[in-house]
Amino acid sequence: MTESVKFLLDESRIPKHWYNLMADLPAPPPPVLHPGTLKPVGPDDLAPLFPMSLIAQEVSTEREIEIPEPVREVYRQWRTTPLYRARRLERALQTPARIYYKYEGVSPAGSHKPNTAVAQAFYNREAGVKRLTTETGAGQWGSSLAFAGAVFGIEVQVFMVRVSYDQKPYRRALMETYGARCVASPSMETSFGRSVLASSPESNGSLGIAISEAVEIAASRDDTKYALGSVLNHVLLHQTVIGLEAMAQLEAADDYPDVIVGCTGGGSNFAGIVFPFLGSQLRGGRKLRIVAVEPAACPSLTRGRYAYDFGDTGHMTPLAKMHTLGSTFMPPGFHAGGLRYHGMAPLVSHIRQLGLIEARAYQQTQCFEAGVFFARHEGIVPAPEANHAVKGAIDEAVRCREEGVSRAILFNLCGHGHFDMQAYLDYFGGRLADQEYDESELAMALAGLPSVAEPV
Ligand SMILES: Cc1ncc(COP(=O)(O)O)c(C=O)c1O
Repeated sequence: MTESVKFLLDESRIPKHWYNLMADLPAPPPPVLHPGTLKPVGPDDLAPLFPMSLIAQEVSTEREIEIPEPVREVYRQWRTTPLYRARRLERALQTPARIYYKYEGVSPAGSHKPNTAVAQAFYNREAGVKRLTTETGAGQWGSSLAFAGAVFGIEVQVFMVRVSYDQKPYRRALMETYGARCVASPSMETSFGRSVLASSPESNGSLGIAISEAVEIAASRDDTKYALGSVLNHVLLHQTVIGLEAMAQLEAADDYPDVIVGCTGGGSNFAGIVFPFLGSQLRGGRKLRIVAVEPAACPSLTRGRYAYDFGDTGHMTPLAKMHTLGSTFMPPGFHAGGLRYHGMAPLVSHIRQLGLIEARAYQQTQCFEAGVFFARHEGIVPAPEANHAVKGAIDEAVRCREEGVSRAILFNLCGHGHFDMQAYLDYFGGRLADQEYDESELAMALAGLPSVAEPV
């Protein structure tokens, strides 16, 4: 067979449950702490920001959590997403590897993010919430929540990281098309934004700053809650539809992955494709290698410290134990805006700490080179974030060629790059430089980590 091959499931086979890795972990992750008392947070601490249904999911240890029918109904518009066997890429690489990719770019917003945006908007609507605030890096998450808000009749305000706001005007246009209000962060709309602008008027912004702004508004208004596009347990949970579908599709293809590769910003698309397979391994099923790929300019999993830290720069969130570069770390303004986050999901950090996954970091030009090679063989233009997973998968396939072994490689093509073509133009024009973070700034940010005695 010479064609790339698509495996689709009937839409009636959209999963009925999300999969919760907490049920199968050999050891529970460290608790999330209240920054004032340093005691584990309880539901009441989180209630100003999230509806109780999502807080319950955040702490649940049940293996399966039912997907509400109204959420499945919205999923039905683009799920199940295709799983492709990348035959043309395999031939071009002259690899004996079997390369599969799950394509999440078919959602209305163009990435995996609507999987949780739709769920979060639904639960907030059920709780009577009228407005949601959020942050966005590349704009994928902001446009996903804007779409979900439009579906469930919730007003959405998005704080978009300044550098992406300038680089990606069409993402902002998409959010506004869905009816959301998009503000460049740091902004004059919050006291934290004003304080950042006072000390750095030219600030590029960061996800950590945008989170503080969105949280500040939600915490101060009764009709408003906050939605996060990654990192939290319930967000990772919602993304497991990706891996659950991929499992069934690979079964239809009569195959099973030896290696799974995903890119990691806050960890949600990675968790989405990985957790169902990892859960099966932890329950005694087949073992596999799992590789997280991150940008060398913001390397939380490979260079960060596993420590308690704030999720935001303004220190309004609880403290979570995670791989972190320090909440004040300012990553350089590279193009994969969705990967410019100082921390990593506590659950992803925990499984890294348990030795269940590997992590590696790549420079952005290597990733664009891989993304262009992929596009020229498979036809799909990946989002700059997804290029990290493409690069990781290609390296695994080359390794198979060098070792003369055929392994099944599965990766998550978590979004398309149709709004990121300026980044591709910059790459073709030789204007895309590899960016190093500032070592002294990293040392300073790590020195500023809160000192927390481990709870026993
Ligand atoms: C296409 C895409 N991939 C990946 C990410 C990184 O987030 P996560 O690690 O939560 O999947 C983002 C975040 O905005 C994104 O837009």
